Order: sequence, then C-alpha cells, then structure tokens
Amino acid sequence: MTGPIPLVLLGCGGVGRAVLAQLLADDGRFRLLGAADRTGLLLGADPAAILDHKAAGRPLSDLGAGAWRWPERGTVLVDVAVGATGARWREALDRGLGVVTANKAPLASPDAPWDVWEPAWRAGRLGIGGTVGAGVPTATYLRALRDGGDVIHRIDAVVSGTLHFVVARIGAGQPLSDAVAEAASRGYTEPDPAIDLSGADVGRKLTILGRAAGLWDGAPAIEVTGLVPDGWRGLAPADLAARLRSLNAPLAARVRAARDEGRRLRFVGTADRTGVRCGLRDEPADSPLGRLGDAENGAVLHSARFDGVPTTLTGPGFGPDVTAKTLLADACAVARALRT
Ligand SMILES: NC(=O)c1ccc[n+]([C@@H]2O[C@H](COP(=O)([O-])OP(=O)(O)OC[C@H]3O[C@@H](n4cnc5c(N)ncnc54)[C@H](OP(=O)(O)O)[C@@H]3O)[C@@H](O)[C@H]2O)c1
Repeated sequence: MTGPIPLVLLGCGGVGRAVLAQLLADDGRFRLLGAADRTGLLLGADPAAILDHKAAGRPLSDLGAGAWRWPERGTVLVDVAVGATGARWREALDRGLGVVTANKAPLASPDAPWDVWEPAWRAGRLGIGGTVGAGVPTATYLRALRDGGDVIHRIDAVVSGTLHFVVARIGAGQPLSDAVAEAASRGYTEPDPAIDLSGADVGRKLTILGRAAGLWDGAPAIEVTGLVPDGWRGLAPADLAARLRSLNAPLAARVRAARDEGRRLRFVGTADRTGVRCGLRDEPADSPLGRLGDAENGAVLHSARFDGVPTTLTGPGFGPDVTAKTLLADACAVARALRT
C-alpha cells in the first residue's frame, strides 16, 4: 500500500466521533479529506476541530460545510450516518471509491439492492463489518467460507449489546425493570429503551448476515418476538417503567426454569433458508452462546463442509469505539482492494 488512505466521513455522531478520535491517535495510515453531517460536507478541516465542534453539538455548516463534492478515486467513504444512504454508495462505487459502513439501512431494508452490493463486497470494495458484531468479523468470515466453496445453512447469533446486557443481568438475578434502568444510565440504550428491547435491530443484523451468507435472493421473512411488545415504543418513561415491572416476575420464573435445566437465557437471532427469527431462547450454559460474557457477542455458523461442527466466532461486542476500530480495519482492506 502506498501513501495514507484517503477517507471521507459521512456522519459525525457517536461512531463518527470515535472514528475521528482514532484517526487523531493513528500513526498516519489515513488522511481525512472531509466529513459530512446533515448540514453538508466539510472538506479539508482538521479532524480535531471537527471532533471538538461536533462533540459540542454544533453543525458542520458553522465551519463552512456545503454541497457534496466527490473526492478522488481510491478514497474510502466511511458511512456512519443513519438512514437511506444507498444512492451515495452506488455513486461512490461507480466512481471508483470504496465504501465501509456501520449504517445498516442500505443493506437491511427489504428493497436493499443486494445484487449491487454483493459483487462490490465480494470484490472487497464494500466493507460491512461495522454493521454487525462490532469487534467480531462475522461477515468477513462468511465471505471466506463462501470463497472456499462452502454453503452456509444457518446462523445463530447474539448481536444486540443492549439486549444481551439486559438479558445477562436478568440471568444474574436482577429484575428486568432495574436491568433496563441500569443499561439506560450507562448509555447503552436509545433514549426510548423500548426501541432496543423490541429486537427489531437484531432482525436487521440477521438480515445482513443472512444476505452475506447467500441464504436468499430477495427479502427474507422476518419474525421478531421482542423482550417487550412493539407497541411499547413511544411510551412516557414512567409508563414504560411500570410495564417493565409487570414483566419482572414472569421473566425471573423463566430464568429459574432455564437454570434448573442447566441453561441460560439469550436473545438470539437465527437466519436460515426460511428467513429470520429473533427472540428470547434458552441455550445450554456450556454452549458458545450460553457462555458469552456480558460485553461479548457471538455467532455460530452452520455450513455444509463443517456439518455437525459449526464455526463459532465470539469476542468484544459493542459500542462506538469497537465499531470504529472495525471500520478502520475494513477501510484498510478496501483500500488494498482498490489499489490492486
Ligand atoms: N452507536 C453504536 O455503537 C453503533 C454501533 C454499530 C453501528 N451503528 C450505526 O452507525 C450509525 C451511526 O451511529 P451513531 O450512534 O453515531 O448515530 P448518531 O449519533 O445519531 O449520528 C448520526 C450522524 O449521522 C449524520 N447524518 C444523518 N443523516 C445524514 C446524511 N444523510 N448525510 C450525512 N450525515 C448524516 C448526523 O448528522 P447531524 O450531526 O447533523 O445530526 C450525525 O452526525 C447508525 O447507522 C448506527 O445504527 C452504531
């Protein structure tokens, strides 16, 4: 690889700022050409200035951000925005740029053009490791299995940091309502915790892994049974807390029943040829998903070649810093592919 890797950052929220902080600590492997937020693209600014400015909650337009301009070929677009950025990816790829993403929307939406993304991902010009698994390169491993001619049948995975933390705490004897309050106070939840507890994000992540595994041509059927019903989204905090308390006793009983049989509760997503299913399951305590620590995520990959002996990937799970590291690792791999 010659010269620092040129990057443009699309989004400067929690993950974007973690990327900026890691660029500042890096030894010159990367060169930040620009950064964008919803107010526009800022070219040529110092990462430290952008970091300070966005950490203060201010828009990049204050610093002179304006209309989008395409950078040079070989630049890697780092998508840490939210929502439908797929049009930007398409044009980036058409123009000879690479893309790495933590933003799941362009990959997981029912109408995602996976037929466009898949060749770019298989060729190494699109990096999707930041969307699922944070520090555990599950998608990359799936690609390696497929490159070796293997056929993946099923994926079982624990991929929501918030749900895993809450479920692990319940398993340790904490009431659900207290576990959710603790997760919220540590900043692990959305401002409305019911969004995390609904499990919808696990459905999106398993959709991405299933697509990466080559399980479907079109959109999968998705069935998510959340820790709380979908209709609990948008409740006032006191109402949500009261409803969570109503689940304390039944969930504690479920934990005890599982424990009596040597099992542990986990919020598991499964993808197979029939689609995606997500919900609370009890797993053997000594199984890969049963053994996961509070801050880990993991995936068990069942494939034809290793039938009966699934591949297991587990490791550090969640949050902006781990995700930013994966994005920069993906950016190195994408830049390498662009330069060959
Ligand atoms: N947080 C995590 O630990 C984590 C882990 C894995 C993946 N992710 C994913 O990574 C992405 C970023 O997460 P986050 O926590 O950093 O979100 P966030 O704090 O809400 O930040 C989102 C950023 O994207 C910008 N943005 C939104 N739409 C944009 C657009 N169309 N063009 C340019 N910028 C746009 C926002 O601009 P403004 O500043 O102007 O609002 C903001 O800077 C999300 O897709 C999330 O699902 C997050």
